[in-house]
Amino acid sequence: MSPSWMSRSRGQADQVDGPLKASEKRSCLSRQSKTFWMLLVAGIFLLIIAIGLGIGLGIGLTRGSSGGNSGNGGGGSGTPSSPNSTTNATAGEYWKPAAGTSWQIVLENPPTDTSLNVAVYDIDLFDNTASTISKLHANGRKVICYFSAGSYEPNRADSAQFKKSDYGKGLDGWPGEYWLNTNSANVRAIMSARLALAHSKGCDGVDPDNVDGYDNDSGLSLSPSTAEDYLRFLAIGAHSYSMSIGLKNAGAIVNATLDFLQWEVNEQCVQYEECDLFRPFIAAGKPVFHIEYPGSAPSISASARKSACDNNEAHGFSTVMKEMDLNDWVEDC
Ligand SMILES: *[C@@H]1O[C@H](CO)[C@@H](O)[C@H](O)[C@H]1NC(C)=O
Ligand SMILES: *[C@@H]1O[C@H](CO)[C@@H](O)[C@H](O)[C@H]1NC(C)=O
Ligand SMILES: *[C@@H]1O[C@H](CO)[C@@H](O)[C@H](O)[C@H]1NC(C)=O
Ligand SMILES: *[C@@H]1O[C@H](CO)[C@@H](O)[C@H](O)[C@H]1NC(C)=O
Repeated sequence: MSPSWMSRSRGQADQVDGPLKASEKRSCLSRQSKTFWMLLVAGIFLLIIAIGLGIGLGIGLTRGSSGGNSGNGGGGSGTPSSPNSTTNATAGEYWKPAAGTSWQIVLENPPTDTSLNVAVYDIDLFDNTASTISKLHANGRKVICYFSAGSYEPNRADSAQFKKSDYGKGLDGWPGEYWLNTNSANVRAIMSARLALAHSKGCDGVDPDNVDGYDNDSGLSLSPSTAEDYLRFLAIGAHSYSMSIGLKNAGAIVNATLDFLQWEVNEQCVQYEECDLFRPFIAAGKPVFHIEYPGSAPSISASARKSACDNNEAHGFSTVMKEMDLNDWVEDC
């Protein structure tokens, strides 16, 4: 599997595009302009008739079918399926954990110990079965299912559904992994299917990773506002399945997404001295599930513990110390 939660360095360009030869086109038109205009007038006339017929047919069809709208955005067209702006991204019935909720995160493998005394397990969506999730439920745990929402990973069950045109630059150090154009209708349709998979496995919430491509050399037109739009899209989907959803890192869009997300999952804010960026979640009564990776783990000295755990800006965060590969080993503060 591909550990996309670990920090990586920059990748390779992957850009193509043949510029259209507009000037050639224009001169061709002027040579044959008489024929062109005649055809154009005839074309417009036919188009008006076609539109008239189309509207008539459209109304007939809409009236005929009894509104079984399956709302499955992005039917393969080039148009990005942006979230339905009339849909309320906070609406729905879903789990809303409180600030300070205890947790464990295991992404390297299915957790070997499902009986740890914590309220929440964050585990990989693809690598875990519904029966692992129901075992955790039987032990009284809530389950958050992790997937990468912003990068293509080569070995996932649905990897073949991504198109080359969805890719940005590669993630250096992770062969075969690429930033994704999160505005792509195809990408969004795949992520909608991942949300459906999470729901079918019984996940209480989802942890979509790599939503901060705007902060990286992705080779794509990603910005904080496209990231906000993408999270709104994911939140509407998750909430419609009665699942909660959180932000992953992405400090720049905390304030813009806080209203419709249920928690933050943060890595290394103490190490990078940016825990203040995530405090709005605590102020709103929502957890900041926080990981530090002490260099000496799994052996933690008193001073390493103090630096990970006694940070003023991280007061009230759900802090755990982990090893970089996010195996079973964990210590809380
Ligand atoms: C993405 O950007 C962050 C912040 O600048 C950096 O820490 C990380 O290494 C970058 N990741 C990749 C894959 O370039
Ligand atoms: C947007 O969502 C609302 C509420 O679910 C629905 O009534 C409306 O038809 C949707 N509009 C579009 C364009 O999908
Ligand atoms: C959205 O839904 C929430 C919860 O159901 C509700 O409190 C809020 O008023 C709604 N907002 C809008 C703009 O409809
Ligand atoms: C987020 O909002 C808080 C509270 O209003 C403010 O103090 C903080 O500067 C904002 N963060 C960013 C990154 O703009």
